[in-house]
Amino acid sequence: MSKPSLSLNIALISGLAIFAPLQAMANTETSQAPIIIQGAMPVEAEHFAAKLENAKERQIGEWRFWQGTVEGYPVIVSETLKGMSNVAAATSIAAVEFKPKAIINQGTAGGHDPALHVYDIVVGKYSVNLGAFKTPHKLQGAGSNSVDWKPMDLMASKGSAGEDKNAHSIRQFAADAQLMKAAEQAMPAYTQGKVVEGVIGSADVWNSELDRIRFFHENFNTSVEEMETASAAQISSLFNIPFIGIRVLSNNITNNGKYDAQTGIACQDYVYDVLKAYIKQINAQK
Ligand code: 5AD
Repeated sequence: MSKPSLSLNIALISGLAIFAPLQAMANTETSQAPIIIQGAMPVEAEHFAAKLENAKERQIGEWRFWQGTVEGYPVIVSETLKGMSNVAAATSIAAVEFKPKAIINQGTAGGHDPALHVYDIVVGKYSVNLGAFKTPHKLQGAGSNSVDWKPMDLMASKGSAGEDKNAHSIRQFAADAQLMKAAEQAMPAYTQGKVVEGVIGSADVWNSELDRIRFFHENFNTSVEEMETASAAQISSLFNIPFIGIRVLSNNITNNGKYDAQTGIACQDYVYDVLKAYIKQINAQK
């Protein structure tokens, strides 16, 4: 075989020059920041994880993450475990380890609004912490009444939260506008109940006192309660990560709505549509 001619060498070099930018494009494609989908319990996460393409499971501490793609876009399903501390840790791990584009917290909740029924979904325009309060001073034997307690803003200042004299209205964590838009776009396709925008209340408490539930609903506008969203929203805000909470009613004692664990599956199917609408928005912005 004869040696390659000079012109062939030039063709090869210029070919590489054309190829290099393509290679760079492919790299930015694969280094897109992932979207995190959080679910507290296996029944709130595994169904979604099974929808991922090319999923790989990874465990950090007790927290499981499934890394894959949806329509080619990187998505990580995170099993946060139950409650405010566990989800705060899962959110911090995700923030540092994966540098996400956005976080969607989803799962089951209990109704505070009698107009909402089991299988209805609340898109959390806001979330509030229903576990941070300051009680009035009462003497020994004077009893305790939780509806007298005033909300305490854990983000207000660096001083003692108990001494914060302005703490009367509850802090609301707002959902990201672009994620809200994606949630709205997915609404018509959900047929197992209605989808409304509302307020999600979170605490390490399962409330079954109807007077207390009504107090939250009337004073803080809560649509539902559960144990993770406001904590994940708070941590996401501290890392500046766009966030939204989306919750299905698995129970509602204000209208005798009986607990149904299957609602968690319905919520994941809706959130899958929200995710696809969001990915479409991201791709359109490119
Ligand atoms: N109160 C509190 N948490 C609830 N959850 C579902 N319904 C309720 C309710 N009525 C969710 C929480 C937690 C698990 C116990 O289920 O978010 O993860």
